[in-house]
Amino acid sequence: MQVLTLVTTSKQRVLSGIQPTGDSMQLGNYLGAVRNWVDMQDEFDAYYCVVDLHAITLDPPEPEALRQRTRIVTAQLLAAGLNPDRCALFVQSHLAEHPQLSWVLECLTGFGEANRMTQFKDKSAKSGVDRQGVGLFTYPILQAADILLYQANYVPVGEDQRQHLELTRTLAQRFNTRYGQTFVVPDAYIPKAAAKILDLQEPSAKMSKSRADAGTIYLSDDPATITKKIKRAVTDADGEIRYDPEAKPGLSNLLTIHAAFTDSTPAKVADDFAGQGYGHLKAAVAEAVIAFAEPFAARTGELLADPAELDRILAHGAAKARAVASATCIDAYAKVGFLPPSGPPATTDRPEQGGQQSAGAVG
Ligand code: TYM
Repeated sequence: MQVLTLVTTSKQRVLSGIQPTGDSMQLGNYLGAVRNWVDMQDEFDAYYCVVDLHAITLDPPEPEALRQRTRIVTAQLLAAGLNPDRCALFVQSHLAEHPQLSWVLECLTGFGEANRMTQFKDKSAKSGVDRQGVGLFTYPILQAADILLYQANYVPVGEDQRQHLELTRTLAQRFNTRYGQTFVVPDAYIPKAAAKILDLQEPSAKMSKSRADAGTIYLSDDPATITKKIKRAVTDADGEIRYDPEAKPGLSNLLTIHAAFTDSTPAKVADDFAGQGYGHLKAAVAEAVIAFAEPFAARTGELLADPAELDRILAHGAAKARAVASATCIDAYAKVGFLPPSGPPATTDRPEQGGQQSAGAVG
């Protein structure tokens, strides 16, 4: 038993999160992040979180819609290949440790430092800073808490999360310097290919659930919709198939998507289609996306038909997550100087990186 424990916990740790916004994840979520989560679940001690607390920071949905979206994204993560026996798949709001640690980190974050986060600027641009909730402003600090609670070594995310990861590293180092070694300083794991899938209608912007539908492929889109969106994707007028993200962002985005689904590289796909028309390439991209999205949507539907089972999987994930998060939070609170709630003084021991101490619960 002891030997087994050591083996299962000597792995390095990953943590990542996805918001339950909209009624489906979009292609960028899958290619930039989620497919790497699936690949990493065996090699790493993996924690994946549906970040529902973050999902109320902007245009909070109706309560029933939020519940449904949380189950939808859970079903999609399972359909993508996450296996609840090989990772901890859980919902952020099930663990009070996330906002608990976030508070301490907020108190360590400079106002100017938080104000430099470009996501807040971008997301508040439309309606103005004065109309935004404070939660949108502190969003990246809650994200830092999500990561640091699990002593994650790596955080698989898309390119747009680089700045939040930098803040997370800064806060981990600041806490460690002030209160003593407590948090692992995590590295972002950003894929070389597909780290930023672009909007099909406006290839200067990333594909996003918050943009117009025509430029965003949802993994719940039916084949006809996918074909139509890709057919209408904005490209350029020179007619030459060449991978050149600077000069030809729209076309290069299509090459990237095709490559991601065919285990190729964008440059190789460009070679394969050289001399052919854009229409031909677009048809092939649509075919590649549909070959993935169609069975994916069917599997998601099957999983959603049994919400009780989804809730059971999430409860199981929360229990695994809590074993790690609670040890870290108790340690951090003791280091800050908060009195323990009751009983003898809280121990300042914490699981080593990799979680050897609470191994039984983590594995
Ligand atoms: P969310 O839900 O907006 O995005 C989830 C993941 O999808 C990636 N992504 C993309 N990748 C490539 N191209 C795109 N067009 C594209 N759009 C989105 C994002 O980079 C992300 O990895 N702030 C996080 C949620 C979060 C989190 C965390 C992540 C909260 N706590 C802790 C990691 C660790 C977010 O953007 O979610």
